[in-house]
Amino acid sequence: TEADAILVERDGRVAILRLNRPKALNALNNSVMRAMAAAIAALDTDTGVGVIVITGSDKAFAAGADIKEMADRSAVEMAMSDWFSGWDAVARCRTPLIAAVSGFALGGGCELAMMCDIIIASETAKFGQPEIKLGVIPGMGGSQRLTRAIGKYKAMDLILTGRLIDAGEADRVGLVSRVVQQARFWDDVMTTARMIAGFGKPSVIAAKETANRALEVSLAEGLLFERRVFHALFATEDQKEGMNAFVAKRPAEFRHR
Ligand code: HXC
Repeated sequence: TEADAILVERDGRVAILRLNRPKALNALNNSVMRAMAAAIAALDTDTGVGVIVITGSDKAFAAGADIKEMADRSAVEMAMSDWFSGWDAVARCRTPLIAAVSGFALGGGCELAMMCDIIIASETAKFGQPEIKLGVIPGMGGSQRLTRAIGKYKAMDLILTGRLIDAGEADRVGLVSRVVQQARFWDDVMTTARMIAGFGKPSVIAAKETANRALEVSLAEGLLFERRVFHALFATEDQKEGMNAFVAKRPAEFRHR
């Protein structure tokens, strides 16, 4: 049902959104999309949340958009419902998102991971955009985000052949932030999440926002944006605390975290 399409857990300032359709390898249907959009909207404005982790099961992060739900739709139905547009809420999130990927991240699953800021892959992870085998194309951002992430020729290889790549190849082409042994995978995810969640959130949001601008604007505009945001952070208590703590050789106690 809608309510248990995802499981929401909290560990201090880290929120964990776990896709919860294990029998369908976490295929992303409308219930999952609505639950995810609602959870992210609520968590993103919660000052007690510093990082959101999106994850699945050991076997599958997500094996794609739900093919059974889409199979019989008409073009007009897809267009009128603006199918997949609910996922934009994930990409709009200002709080850092970590995709913790074990097993399959295919089609919409790979695209969901690419909406996140950091992708931590277990060595069991498999990525791909196999939509071409279904007579369609990536529909949740894959044609754009994969091309920006790994470049035209690597992206075309995946999008036009539909082949899957393992964690090692994903690491080499720059599709993931890092690969971790399965046994240490969850520890690494949570250690990373807690570390980021311990920094001052104004600077964390600014860091995410400025880095993302690099993918949207010219170098000159991006550098100007960075400079303005950098200067503005000197109005925050966390800048004073962070720098004073360094000078005093003590750990920083950020206020906004
Ligand atoms: C709906 C899915 C699914 C999916 C798996 N299942 N992927 N259901 N949508 N994307 C279901 C299967 O139907 C099956 O249900 C159950 O999950 C287990 O899957 P199996 O195939 O039996 O598992 P296995 O043999 O281990 O193979 C795993 C797999 C394979 C290689 C990942 O499931 C697979 O190829 N899935 C589809 C991957 C894919 O094409 N993704 C892209 C989707 S399109 P039952 O009821 O039989 O047990 C997309 C964007 C579309 O994401 C954009 C265009 C608009």
